[in-house]
Amino acid sequence: MADGTEADVDPGLEDLLEFLRTSRGFDFSGYKRGSLGRRIAKRMHAVGVDDYSTYKELLEAEPPEFVELFNTILINVTAFVRDSDAWQYLADEIIPKILDAKGQDEPVRAWSAGCASGEEAYSLAVLLCDAMGEDGFRERFKVYGTDADEEALAAARLGRYPASAVKEAFNNEQVERYFESDGDDMVFRKDLRRAVIFGRHDLLQDAPISRVDLLACRNTLMYFNSETQRQILSDFHFALSDGGYLFLGKSEALVSRTGLFVPVDQKRHIFMKERTGRVVRQPAPHGAPRAARIPVAEDLADLTFENAPIAQIVVDRAGLLALANRHARTLFGLGINQVGRPFKDLEFSYRPVELRSRIDQVFNERRATTVNDIQLTLPGGGVEFLDSYLLPLITDSEVSAVALAFLEVGRYKVLREELERAQRELEAAYEELQSTNEELETTNEELQSTNEELETTNEELHSTNEELETMNEELQSTNGELEATNNELRQRSLDLDEANIYLEAILGSLGSGVVVLNRQLAVRVWNRVSEDLWGLRADEVEGQHFLNLDIGLPVDPLSQPIRAALNGETEIVDVPLHAVNRRGRAIEVSVRVAPLRGDGKAPDGVIVVVRSAGEPT
Ligand SMILES: C[S@@+](CC[C@H](N)C(=O)[O-])C[C@H]1O[C@@H](n2cnc3c(N)ncnc32)[C@H](O)[C@@H]1O
Repeated sequence: MADGTEADVDPGLEDLLEFLRTSRGFDFSGYKRGSLGRRIAKRMHAVGVDDYSTYKELLEAEPPEFVELFNTILINVTAFVRDSDAWQYLADEIIPKILDAKGQDEPVRAWSAGCASGEEAYSLAVLLCDAMGEDGFRERFKVYGTDADEEALAAARLGRYPASAVKEAFNNEQVERYFESDGDDMVFRKDLRRAVIFGRHDLLQDAPISRVDLLACRNTLMYFNSETQRQILSDFHFALSDGGYLFLGKSEALVSRTGLFVPVDQKRHIFMKERTGRVVRQPAPHGAPRAARIPVAEDLADLTFENAPIAQIVVDRAGLLALANRHARTLFGLGINQVGRPFKDLEFSYRPVELRSRIDQVFNERRATTVNDIQLTLPGGGVEFLDSYLLPLITDSEVSAVALAFLEVGRYKVLREELERAQRELEAAYEELQSTNEELETTNEELQSTNEELETTNEELHSTNEELETMNEELQSTNGELEATNNELRQRSLDLDEANIYLEAILGSLGSGVVVLNRQLAVRVWNRVSEDLWGLRADEVEGQHFLNLDIGLPVDPLSQPIRAALNGETEIVDVPLHAVNRRGRAIEVSVRVAPLRGDGKAPDGVIVVVRSAGEPT
C-alpha cells in the first residue's frame, strides 16, 4: 500500500490525479498512494464530498479549490535547523570540508529542495555565512530554495518569521548578526538575502539545479513512492558536484541502496556523492531516456526557461524532444516522461498541426519559420489558438536543434475578429448612413420643389383671394342693390295688394257682376257678385274664353257688342237679357259692355257689367 503498487490502484483516485496533471500540470503520480489518498480524502471531507468524481466536478466548477487541495497535499511543516544535532554536525564537520575543497574564489552552491516557507534555506545561509564570513558569503555563496508550492515560496521570499522561532533555533550572536527585528517578527538581513534565491521547482517534473556542493532535501522524499524516490535521488546525484553532500531527513533511508551515494553519517542522514566519473543520469522508470536528454540546467537560465510564460520545446538533431518547459507540458498535456522520446511518436507532433515537416525544413534550410493559427483543443475542453515560431539553434555552424515557441493568440484572435466585425458593422452602418443621407437629400430636394410649388399655389391663392374679395365686395353691393330692389318690389307688392283689395272692395260694392276680358276675350276679372250670380268661382273662370262659358247668362247676344267695343267702334252699350241665376231662377239682367282703355288709345279689353233687375214677379 505504502508505495502505491499496481495492486493498490484505485481508478477513481488515478483519474483524479490524471485530471490534476492535465488541468494544472501538477503530477502526483509518483506520490505514495496511501498518504496521498488520505490527504485528498481529508480535503474531500472538509468540503462534504465523498467520491472522487464528484470532487473532480467540484474542482472544475470552483478553481480556487485547487489551491486548498494542494495546500492539503503539500504539507509545509518546517522549522529552522530542524533536528539541530544533525545541523550542528553539518556546521562542524561538513561545511568546513566543502570550503576546504574549494579554491579561494570558487563559488559555493547549496540547494534546499522542498524548502516550504524557507527556514531550511535560511538555516543553510546562516551556517555558511558563519563559516565564510560576510564578504566571502556575499561574493561566493548561493543557496537555492525550491518547492512546488507557490504559496509557501511567497512566504519564503519575505524572509519574515516570528522572533520566537528565530531565537529558539539560533544562538544570540547569529540572531543579532543575520536578523533584524520588526515588531514581533524578525527579518533575514536584506544584503545577505540576495544570496538566497527562491523558485518553483517540481522534483518530479523539473530538471535539477546543477553543480551543487550541499543539497538538503529533508522530510520531502518520504511523500514519494520508492520508484520516484530513486528517480529523484538520481537527479540529486546529477545535481551534486563531485564530492558534494546530500543532507536528508530521518525517514529517507532508500538512498543507501541506490549505489549513488556513500554515507558520511548514516545516523544524521548525511551522504556524499559517489564519484562515478562522467555523470549519466538514471533512465526514467519506463525505460525512456527521460531527463537524461534534458540539457543540464544552468541555474537561472534554466529556471527562466522552465518558468517562462510561453510554451517552449526543443527538438534535437536526433529527432528527440530534448526540452519542454512547464507551460508547454501543461498546454500539450505532456508528461515529464515524454521528454527524451522521439518527437514524431508524440501525437502533438502532427496534431493539431503537422510540425515534423516544418522542423525538418528548419534543419535543412537553417532558417526560422512560423506556423500561425494553430487551433488547439485544451485538456479542459476549451480551444486556444497558437502561433508557433521555429528557430534553428546553431552550434559549431551546425543546426543542433530546433526551438519551438508557442504564442497563445486566442485572445488577440478574438479581439481581431471582434475588431473586424465591428469594422464591418461600422462600414455597413456608414453605407446605410450614406444611403439614408442620399435619401434625405433627395427628399429635401423633393420638399424644396414641393415648397416652391406650394409657394406658387400660395401666390395663386392670394390673387384668387383678392379676386374673391373684390367679387365679394361687388356681390355685397349687388346684394345691397338687390335688397333695395326687393324692398321696392315688396313695397309695390304691398301697394298692389292694397290696390287689389281696394279694387275688389269697389267691384264688390258696386252690387253688379263685373267681368273684365282681355283682347282675346279671356276672363281677367270675375268679381264676387259674378260668383253669386252664376255659381262659378273666379279661379274656375279666369283665363277661360268668355263666350265659351257655360253659365245662366246667354253670351251669344253679347258677342257682337263685345267685339265692337274691343274694336273701339262703340263706347258703352247696354243689352237687356233674360238669364238664369245659380239657383236656377230666371232673372232679368241689364248687361253694359264698354271698352277698357289704358292710355286712351286702342282698347286693351272689354268690361262687362251685369246688373240684376231681380226675379220677375
Ligand atoms: C514537510 S515539508 C519539508 C520542509 C523542509 N524541507 C523541512 O524538512 O523542514 C515538505 C515540502 O515538500 C514540498 N513538496 C511536495 N511535493 C513536491 C514536489 N513534487 N516538488 C517539490 N516540492 C514538493 C511541499 O510543498 C512541502 O513544502
